[in-house]
Amino acid sequence: MTLQVKEVKEYLPHVVALWDVFDTLIPPNPGRLVETHVWNGKEILEKLHKIAYEVQLGEGVERKVLVPVNPGLQKLGLYTATHTIYVGFQIVLPGEVAGAHRHTPFASRFMIRGKASTTVDGVGVEFEDGDFITTPRWSWHDHTNNSNEPVVWLDALDIPVPKMLLSSFFEDYEGETQPVTGDLRARSASTGLTSSLDLSWVRGQSSPLVFKWKDTHAMLKDLGSFSDGSPFDAITLTYRDPRTGKEVSDTLGADITLLKSGLRTKPHRHTTSVVYYVVKGKGAIVVDGKEMSWEENDVVSLTPWLSHELVNDGSGDAILFSLNDRPLLKNTGLYRVEPAPT
Ligand SMILES: [Fe+2]
Ligand SMILES: [Fe+2]
Repeated sequence: MTLQVKEVKEYLPHVVALWDVFDTLIPPNPGRLVETHVWNGKEILEKLHKIAYEVQLGEGVERKVLVPVNPGLQKLGLYTATHTIYVGFQIVLPGEVAGAHRHTPFASRFMIRGKASTTVDGVGVEFEDGDFITTPRWSWHDHTNNSNEPVVWLDALDIPVPKMLLSSFFEDYEGETQPVTGDLRARSASTGLTSSLDLSWVRGQSSPLVFKWKDTHAMLKDLGSFSDGSPFDAITLTYRDPRTGKEVSDTLGADITLLKSGLRTKPHRHTTSVVYYVVKGKGAIVVDGKEMSWEENDVVSLTPWLSHELVNDGSGDAILFSLNDRPLLKNTGLYRVEPAPT
């Protein structure tokens, strides 16, 4: 996609010739509007811990979050990591409550450090280091830190998608928090059990999903004990709704990857954009031959349709949590993946 606007002749007011705008309407390839970029996570976390004590939650500060912004999108006034994926480092200090609200963007959270309580449409959820939880569209949610330490997690939302579709809505709850009226087992959210009654119109559109780190980590370790995984994706697990087998939302998907010490994946490209969060380890991403290093806590954006390889530098196993827009592309018939041309 080109940002250059060529001279276009208007034949009538607000009428142009197709041949003048054809390349703009249907670019021959996806372009590089979204840049591959590495954000230094340790620097962001340090800054976040500092400014968390300088601002107050409330009027004008809905959440305490520092947001990685893609350099290619910032020029256009878009404050997201890719054109479909928003991520943010959020902090909640001891005793703080991030008040209840709801919005049409789908949201999910990967806990970086600490222990927090979240309520999603009346369902109480506790989450801690490495846990991954989802907040379906338009569900009330609030977060509380009842511990003695700050909690920090990575938020991941599909903010640009409802915005582009002009269907972005936001509402504040009437109180600070909502009552907890059910637990996960009662709502059969993460058990694979389903109810013969459709309760979605009684109790929210859908329940949150919770993926505990101890289960995720155990599965990665088990697979890693006898395999290096796929040559292109190493050992990669996809988070799915156990009740339906579907990905965690109809727009964003989430994966967790174990890249064993010294391993290098084979070059490939896909139409999905990806945002990685480095849970553990050190390495690099090689994009179109250019190598960019990453380490623990870093965030990395990947440009769609560019050849890329993940490299572990050999100092130990690496684990990367990642978000992608694969469900959205699959649902619209736009998903495409192939080994990089040689
Ligand atoms: Fe929210
Ligand atoms: Fe890939």
